[in-house]
Amino acid sequence: MVRENRLDPSDLIWPLFVTDGKAVEEPIASLPGVSRWSVDLIVERAADAIAAGIPCIALFPNTQTERRSDDGAEALNPDNLMCTAIRAIKDRHGEAIGVLTDVALDPYAAHGQDGLIDAKGYVLNDDTVAVLVDQALNQAEAGADIIAPSDMMDGRIGAIRRALEMGGHSNVQIMSYAAKYASAFYGPFRDAVGSRGLLKGDKKSYQMDPANSDEALREVALDIAEGADSVMVKPGLPYLDIIRRVRDSFTVPVFAYQVSGEYAMIEAAVAAGAGERDALVLETLLAFKRAGCSGVLSYHALHAARLLNQ
Ligand code: PBG
Repeated sequence: MVRENRLDPSDLIWPLFVTDGKAVEEPIASLPGVSRWSVDLIVERAADAIAAGIPCIALFPNTQTERRSDDGAEALNPDNLMCTAIRAIKDRHGEAIGVLTDVALDPYAAHGQDGLIDAKGYVLNDDTVAVLVDQALNQAEAGADIIAPSDMMDGRIGAIRRALEMGGHSNVQIMSYAAKYASAFYGPFRDAVGSRGLLKGDKKSYQMDPANSDEALREVALDIAEGADSVMVKPGLPYLDIIRRVRDSFTVPVFAYQVSGEYAMIEAAVAAGAGERDALVLETLLAFKRAGCSGVLSYHALHAARLLNQ
């Protein structure tokens, strides 16, 4: 009766990895229980999400190696894996499920960085923004509902918003990865999209220093001013303090990404007999609500939604 926060399937966004082929499921070793799915099966996963009351799925492609290049041009191909998946989901399910799409070059770049790089490997902010705008338009044309730039370039939210308006996509939302930290918790994700082995160096020149908190508020303020409809803090559990500060300082919806390394930690604890999966999943997800989130991206989303529906 006095409970302050509640977890509901409608709070959840389910990230899914897309791969080539038909009827293909590829388990990801460092993310036990998570697979890459071919487009025909992603459509089935979307049906699972709808049945469980999950309002939105997030798509990430595992691009074939031969389609990766230094300029990440495959991101602009209207028939790339991402756009093919968006169209297939929208053809089958229409507005029954929201499709949130990732804007960043890492799944398409031969070097695994989120942007274009110079000869020394330094990521070029402004040159990258120009490509991200075209990537976002490509996804919007394919039918994406929410564009989610995860690249952390400065100025990309405003540039993407303007391009969406000019391109007739005024109803497409932007969920900005506003406070994204240069984290050690992304390893299994990089396996999932096939960028771990390609990435040289790190992403510390554009992702945030885990030591910083005020900077997160500056990043969020900029993205809201540029036109973000909602903002995200990432990773999740180690950054609940950031979520709470953002929640208290702004009025747009705040989302958290419980990232791949967090998922893997829970699964490792379960495998080691150190904890019980259902309880760990529900407690961690509820913590995001308590910290002030409107919703959470989690690889446990389907499992959690099914538990909540029982
Ligand atoms: C990159 C991107 C990353 C994640 C989402 N988009 C990894 C990175 O920045 O290297 C991580 C998600 C996860 O770990 O689950 N654009």
